[in-house]
Amino acid sequence: MTTITAKINKWNPDPEIISKAAEILNSGGLVAFPTETVYGLGANALDSEAVRKIYLAKGRPSDNPLILHVSSYEQAEDLVFMNDTAKFLIQKFWPAPLTLVLKAKSIIPLTTRGGLDTAAIRMPDNPIALALIEKSKIPIAAPSANLSGRPSPTDFESVFNDMNGKIEMIIDGGETETGIESTVIDVTNPEKILMLRPGGMSREIIEETLNTELKIPDSFSKKRSPGTRYRHYAPNIPVIIWKKNTKFPDVKNFAYMGINDVENVECENKILFDDVKNYAHGLFSGFRKFECEKSSCIIVEWPQDNSGISEGLRDRISRAAEK
Ligand code: TXA
Ligand code: MG
Repeated sequence: MTTITAKINKWNPDPEIISKAAEILNSGGLVAFPTETVYGLGANALDSEAVRKIYLAKGRPSDNPLILHVSSYEQAEDLVFMNDTAKFLIQKFWPAPLTLVLKAKSIIPLTTRGGLDTAAIRMPDNPIALALIEKSKIPIAAPSANLSGRPSPTDFESVFNDMNGKIEMIIDGGETETGIESTVIDVTNPEKILMLRPGGMSREIIEETLNTELKIPDSFSKKRSPGTRYRHYAPNIPVIIWKKNTKFPDVKNFAYMGINDVENVECENKILFDDVKNYAHGLFSGFRKFECEKSSCIIVEWPQDNSGISEGLRDRISRAAEK
């Protein structure tokens, strides 16, 4: 298959490109597009044949449900059963890197929700993504646009490397902002809201807004969020975690990423970030850069502070480092 690629200005998305992409989605094809977190691999969420193609292109286990991307509250209401907590969070935050799991309406095919009776929805904070959803007039099912298990793509080149020849179109909207995926919370039971995946929106801000603690899912709920079961986000060279003030790993030809510089160790392949926000923004593109440069491994600093995006960043780092 020939993959069409089109560069587009985020602040003034070319209507012709958006129309072309919407046409592809409406005829059951796949389009990769930027969101504020990572690039998504989109299909018509209500067309189970189209959604099946996502699983095929990614090599993704088909019991891992997808997020439905919407551009309005009304569109979300057609898909899931709302409750007051969900409504409140949506009013307060959307568009945002905040995905809500709610009871699904039967209009959502089982393929899209991995056979579950719930579904995940979110409104992405990116003008290209919103224009595409609006133009196509359908909810767009989209996982990250990487091959299953690989680091999520945060720029056009990463999507192209993984998806060229496998999908109909890739929209190049430049680098994504957040760099790691959305936070996923289960709000089906407002008395017990579950943190299923930490991500772009911090736990503190959600807890403060709701004036309640987000709970850790038990093993039953974990089973219901299958994405957390699989190895993820890993480059094809080993990732080793280093904590500041501990002995630095004794390896040769390594690459390094972190906030604090490494002292008394030779390292040419290094990316230093100003803070956790920048670290999250650059983590996945750093993984992809260093695997191309043939480093023996990537040593990553463990972010120690407890604020903002740190929890999501630690989650991605620890899963990339899993053997
Ligand atoms: O930022 C993001 O969330 C990106 C962009 C493209 O929007 N998307 C993304 O999708 O990361 P994906 O498919 O890589 O991750 C979706 C996560 C998985 O962990 C999946 O298990 C969980 O959401 N999920 C989806 N539907 C669910 C449901 N009904 N119940 C529990 N977890 C669900
Ligand atoms: Mg993913």
